Amino acid sequence: MKIKTAIYPGSFDPITFGHLDIIRRAGKIFDRLIVSVFTHSAKKPMFTVEERVDMLRSALKGNKKVKIERFEGLLVDYLRKKKVNVVIRGLRAISDLEYEFQIAAINRTLYGGVETVFFMPRQRYTYLSSSVVRDIAHFGGDVSKLVPPYVIKKIKSR
Ligand code: COA
Repeated sequence: MKIKTAIYPGSFDPITFGHLDIIRRAGKIFDRLIVSVFTHSAKKPMFTVEERVDMLRSALKGNKKVKIERFEGLLVDYLRKKKVNVVIRGLRAISDLEYEFQIAAINRTLYGGVETVFFMPRQRYTYLSSSVVRDIAHFGGDVSKLVPPYVIKKIKSR
């Protein structure tokens, strides 16, 4: 049987329960998942790429289907390098659609074979984003319902 691999790219600054929910859902359909930390040219990150990879490793420890990586550059170059043609993205609300539609269309223009597969997180995570977490953390608020314990530890150590 053919092993089907998909790549879930993102900033993951930091990983949230919403991202983990998408990874769990994608893991039910794909044999292998590569979760890859990208640097976003327009975003000023809170955590370094190394820290983000470290938090993902902790959150996904023991999940044999998942591999954590990092990449700097175009997503399509990464896909070609890895010989993978499926991209996973989460759709939280209609407001995500325009942005996601644009990325998916551009990627398909740059690399004809690529397919983007969208997953809906559970309803309670539809309002969640990494910047919400960063903002609450900045003012010392409680993010325990939004991110795994290791991320809380990293936030507190700042
Ligand atoms: N749960 C919680 N948050 C979620 C989420 C979910 N299920 N799905 C998306 N988000 C949030 C993220 O936390 C992030 O929040 P923030 O903006 O508050 O930090 C936001 O939605 C979107 O971020 P993310 O999913 O990390 O994507 P991105 O827009 O930062 O980066 C890439 C997307 C990496 C795929 C894209 O930038 C890329 O391909 N970069 C490489 C360069 C490239 O190829 N460019 C050409 C194509 S545009």
